[in-house]
Amino acid sequence: MTVERIVVIGAGTMGHGIAQAAAVSGYQVTLTDVDPAALERGKQAIEKSTDKLAKKGIIDQNQQEAAAGIVIAEDMAAAGDAHLVIEAATENPEIKLALFKELDRVASKDTVLATNTSSISITRIAGATSRPDRVIGMHFFNPVALMTLLEVIRGLETSDTARDLAFEVGRQMGKEPVEVKDSPGFIANRILIPMINEAIFALQEGLGSAEDIDTIMKLGMSHPLGPLALADLIGLDVVLHIVEVLHRDFGDDKYRPARLLRQMVDADHLGRKTGKGFYQYN
Ligand SMILES: NC(=O)c1ccc[n+]([C@@H]2O[C@H](COP(=O)([O-])OP(=O)(O)OC[C@H]3O[C@@H](n4cnc5c(N)ncnc54)[C@H](O)[C@@H]3O)[C@@H](O)[C@H]2O)c1
Repeated sequence: MTVERIVVIGAGTMGHGIAQAAAVSGYQVTLTDVDPAALERGKQAIEKSTDKLAKKGIIDQNQQEAAAGIVIAEDMAAAGDAHLVIEAATENPEIKLALFKELDRVASKDTVLATNTSSISITRIAGATSRPDRVIGMHFFNPVALMTLLEVIRGLETSDTARDLAFEVGRQMGKEPVEVKDSPGFIANRILIPMINEAIFALQEGLGSAEDIDTIMKLGMSHPLGPLALADLIGLDVVLHIVEVLHRDFGDDKYRPARLLRQMVDADHLGRKTGKGFYQYN
């Protein structure tokens, strides 16, 4: 099947980024969300981002116009004749399972249904549909326009056809797809999130200040960003959620969340999005 039409579900941070990357790569894209305000914000963010990329010469005028041509819709009807649906709605199993049940009903039987989930089992999501062979994980990274990694995750029953399609679309979008087995945190978050959690333990134990810990990891490991600054960027609530998934699903205490991480989430010090995390933001 040649992919021409892609529907993206969820117009938040990831959804609008995926829709934009798909449109500038030549796909006809529809972007949907249950929240009209999120759709409006997504549309504005795409305009702003493509404007910036065009000024830097990263995309040309045709690509900018293609992104402006993304169809905005409040329902999922467009999934009816899409070749690929990429779901990037809120990270909540109940929302995702209900969405995939509904997508399975409205999408044509050949449509491949992909999810951008960071932590929910692809096999579990596929189980909500009658087409587990055509359900796959396409885990993009933030910001989608700039990050080239794409983790492609196969559920227990995902077919080679769905895997090949995800690779083809990912490459067309300028990404480097890497196939990963379905396991908590996949590979990127399985390694990244425990490292961030360990950095929070180091801070909690007073081994150094946030700046010291980040400086050590930047200069010693050539990381562009220290783990605590990165946690602020991701959102401490998201970090806590993923570390809890690793702890619960592996049943291994090496993944226990640092107490300081929980306290910061309880205090609503979530990082950049609330203006305060390990650092202060204006
Ligand atoms: N933020 C990241 O850095 C990042 C990175 C990789 C993967 N992800 C994953 O991407 C997904 C989206 O994350 P995000 O950060 O963009 O979240 P977000 O909160 O910015 O956006 C989620 C959007 O989904 C919408 N939504 C909720 N229920 C819906 C429904 N039933 N139908 C349609 N839209 C619905 C919300 O209105 C919201 O606009 C999650 O699964 C997350 O784990 C996030």
